[in-house]
Amino acid sequence: MSAVSALARAPEHSMEETAEDFKRAMRRLTSTVSIIATGVGSARCGMVATAVSSLCTEPPSLLICINHSASLYQPLLSNQRFSVNLLDTTQSDLVGIFAGRLKGPARFEHGDWDHAEELPYLLDAQATLFCRVDARLSYATHEVIVGRVEKSLVGERISPLLWQDGQPAKSHALNH
Ligand SMILES: Cc1cc2nc3c(=O)[nH]c(=O)nc-3n(C[C@H](O)[C@H](O)[C@H](O)COP(=O)(O)O)c2cc1C
Repeated sequence: MSAVSALARAPEHSMEETAEDFKRAMRRLTSTVSIIATGVGSARCGMVATAVSSLCTEPPSLLICINHSASLYQPLLSNQRFSVNLLDTTQSDLVGIFAGRLKGPARFEHGDWDHAEELPYLLDAQATLFCRVDARLSYATHEVIVGRVEKSLVGERISPLLWQDGQPAKSHALNH
């Protein structure tokens, strides 16, 4: 069904149809894949996330959205601090591992992890943002968290690992 005809039948949609159309629409919302991490040593937790958005520059801040059922959720709130590691196209192997294939700190046996600011960070990520929880809003299954950015590490390469149509993808510049 085309976008136009989907819109045309929107008013008489059931909840299920609306949710299904929403999911189909979101498959077209391409986002950079990040790993959000918190904790030290054997208490480290990390999770793959695409619900990461820049918020404002004064103060430097971003938004993340975390499912209340995710293993990262409670530790992140306890620590009040987290890192957001923007993945590079070479790091797609980490997605399955940090989305549930492995549990707990075993996830950190994969990828080149180090510590700074008492947080785990991925050495060869495109960028890492070290954040403190500054505000939050509970909405249905998820927590929307404002992270105040305390420090950013930025790599030279710009080659974001994207998530599009339920799978990894990469970007390319449009040269008109
Ligand atoms: C590409 C991708 C993006 C995801 N983005 C988010 C997200 O933004 N927020 C979220 O709560 N879960 C997200 N998830 C799901 C979590 O990564 C995963 O369900 C989470 O790690 C739960 O597993 P755990 O409780 O074993 O840690 C995403 C998963 C994938 C594969």
